Amino acid sequence: MAVRVCRWDELPDPGSRGFEHERNGQRRSCVVVRRGAQVWAYENRCPHTGAPLDWRPGQVLNPEGTHIQCALHLAQFQMDDGLCIHGPCLGQSLQAVPVERRGAWVVLVGSGAGGEEEMSGANR
Ligand code: FES
Repeated sequence: MAVRVCRWDELPDPGSRGFEHERNGQRRSCVVVRRGAQVWAYENRCPHTGAPLDWRPGQVLNPEGTHIQCALHLAQFQMDDGLCIHGPCLGQSLQAVPVERRGAWVVLVGSGAGGEEEMSGANR
């Protein structure tokens, strides 16, 4: 069963949205980010101090919509691989959560086909 992150048409272009993801038995706050036809997701955790990235729930892009930006000390990360290219954690990366577009939905990669199960927090 594929695990839904959010509906594709609910994701602004460019834009981001929060969701929760369970890994190793722990629930983690995550963000999905879109640019054009491409989509990626990362844990909502800055490698600098571990603080959440978002400045409002699920909102992590800089004002230009070109990079993920940490709300605390404004580190900037590439959308496509999570690499920090500016700020105190330069050269470090966000923890990726593999996602893909499948029809009308963004789903977790490897979470199966067919019926879908919606994740909590995907409506932020
Ligand atoms: S906590 Fe993200 S840049 Fe400092």
